[in-house]
Amino acid sequence: MTDTLPIIDFSGADERALTDALRPDNAVVRNSKGEWILLRHRDVVAAATDDITFSSAVSAHQQIPNGLDGEKHTAARALIDAYLSADALAPHAASFEKIAHDMVASLPKGEPFDAVNELGAHFAVRAMTAWLGWPQEMEPRLLDWVQENNDATRSGDRKRTAQVAADFDAMIREVLEPRMTGSGHNDVTAQLVADRSLGRELSETELVSILRNWTGGDLSSMALCVGCVVDFLARAPHIQERLRSKDASDEEIDAIIDEILRIDDPFVTNRRRTTCPVNLDGIEIGTGEIVRLNWTSANRDEQRFGDPAAFDPEKNRPHNLVYGIGRHACPGRLLSTMELRAVVKALMNDRSTLSIAPKMTGEREISPVGGYRQVWVVLG
Ligand code: HEM
Repeated sequence: MTDTLPIIDFSGADERALTDALRPDNAVVRNSKGEWILLRHRDVVAAATDDITFSSAVSAHQQIPNGLDGEKHTAARALIDAYLSADALAPHAASFEKIAHDMVASLPKGEPFDAVNELGAHFAVRAMTAWLGWPQEMEPRLLDWVQENNDATRSGDRKRTAQVAADFDAMIREVLEPRMTGSGHNDVTAQLVADRSLGRELSETELVSILRNWTGGDLSSMALCVGCVVDFLARAPHIQERLRSKDASDEEIDAIIDEILRIDDPFVTNRRRTTCPVNLDGIEIGTGEIVRLNWTSANRDEQRFGDPAAFDPEKNRPHNLVYGIGRHACPGRLLSTMELRAVVKALMNDRSTLSIAPKMTGEREISPVGGYRQVWVVLG
């Protein structure tokens, strides 16, 4: 069975379209690196919730908490979750709303704009620097970095991705330096520097790793999520109408956003390494193999959702995997939800309607990135 498994070259492909085509006939495929890609909801959930068989220790680099297993992971998550709880984030809600409002107010009216790069990327950087207390002057460098990070990821060139990662670490060290020498900062980054919840201070390497996992990839993810949500809403005036209605609660807005992201989930995969032989749907996977949980595909599995494109927040909510499942499920879910809600509310409160820009086609991203590279829309 394993010998006959298709080997798929994902390079240059729209992962959503490709996995849609593969999933009906294949629960698992292999990519050109020899990794095993799980395409169906049931298998992805099974692997994500069995962290004994599917270890997260996949990278040679320290990744807190992403690369940790067992008790070490539990301790790291307790530390991190405290910064991302509803209570910890509540004081930041007003600033996310103001950033989104100001940004939407500055968008051209009646003229096309690109929701990924002109709105999503800028908003992601501004909201993140506001949350962490990083200097506003860093914005242009962070925006350049998001661009370069996406280009490097797409290129698959490991030297280039390593350089991009090193550049980001250097920026984080710059922010840490004044806070580690104790010069009167009182922001989330300074709180992390002063954190002793593990019974000791965090080393600089640990601080960089935590901050990298809060920021690096998520700046890109947030920009891509904004692109997917805006594209969907621009094509769905009846949902825009619902979102504009006075009685749309925050819970309903959040459920609508989550369902849009289920249909088009730009956060494509995460890796695991098997700790023992596994049999998945009759396919034998040996010990020490890299397995990719494809969230984008699992979120569209016909066996779980029926028609993957059928918009039904109520029905699909319990099975939505946009933020993962199991012990590694996204600790930043609440933060992302607050930020995306702020953007959607700002767009909907602006009384103009949102529509796809005539004669300008959006461009899909290519593997390993998901969602759109560009989404051209008009507020008019
Ligand atoms: C923008 C939308 C986002 C999406 C769609 C997303 C999605 C995910 C998913 C699917 C996972 C599971 C990974 C796995 O099982 O291996 C995850 C983990 C993680 N996310 Fe997010 N995320 C987002 C934003 C954020 C934000 C804003 C933060 C932090 C501020 C964040 C921090 C993390 C961290 C640290 C992990 C690793 C958790 C662990 O290993 O225990 N994410 N995210």
